[in-house]
Amino acid sequence: MQLNQGPLLYEGKAKKVYRSDKPETVLIEFKNDATAFNAVKHSEFKDKGRLNCQISSYIFEFLIEEGIPTHYLGRLSDTFMIAQNVKIIPLEIVVRNIAAGSLCKQTPIKEGVKLRSPLLDIYYKEDSLGDPLLTDKRLKLLDLISFEQQQEIENLAYEVNTFLIAFFERIDLCLVDFKLEFGMNNNNKIILADEISPDTCRLWDNRSSDPKDRILDKDRFRKDLGGVIEAYGEILKRIQGDFSKSKTSR
Ligand code: TMP
Ligand code: ASP
Repeated sequence: MQLNQGPLLYEGKAKKVYRSDKPETVLIEFKNDATAFNAVKHSEFKDKGRLNCQISSYIFEFLIEEGIPTHYLGRLSDTFMIAQNVKIIPLEIVVRNIAAGSLCKQTPIKEGVKLRSPLLDIYYKEDSLGDPLLTDKRLKLLDLISFEQQQEIENLAYEVNTFLIAFFERIDLCLVDFKLEFGMNNNNKIILADEISPDTCRLWDNRSSDPKDRILDKDRFRKDLGGVIEAYGEILKRIQGDFSKSKTSR
């Protein structure tokens, strides 16, 4: 797909969104910036944009094959994704399979405990408020989406979880938790948007039992463990290996 880059529409912490010369189609540039704790911590990692753009692209391609509606249309270059223009619903949908991160800070559940069933948490996406966790009643009060739309989003998020657990399991990675964002396209259809990458997922390496070594996601940056790019590179390498294997076996 050959498209030309138009004016900048939006700049976030890790991505820039540009208009393109095709209607309803945007270009998303993945930046090398890394932030954590609501941008209190900031750094740049050479090559992170390329790795996240490629990893996200593979994951969206996989999810589309599984029937999940997403904004992904293709890749323009190593760091530019082509996507449907959507109006992002300002909610962060987190699905957790294993206790980690804020769940362990806010409850007595210890890190690494497998949850009986996936836990879905919804946060209000608003940096100035620190992305607060919402209750169902507060979500209703905000009136951002209808009850039916909430059901649709939650069902899609659980489905994505089931597909991604299997996707990562095949390459010896454990999907601890992840965050999704949804948007409304031009036909008012809710579709999966944003990115799915080691910035937005916790991924533990099943080939390692060391609690620090096994971390292959943005927690390496959050916890100052080093080796951020090496970890992201390892994830891309395993995904590419799996994709070329499944292509040759078709
Ligand atoms: P948490 O444990 O800090 O609530 O994070 C849960 C998951 O959501 C984890 O995989 C990281 C991801 N996440 C984001 O993608 N963006 C964010 O702003 C936050 C806080 C978490
Ligand atoms: N994405 C958030 C930030 O930029 C938080 C995080 O991922 O930890 O601060």
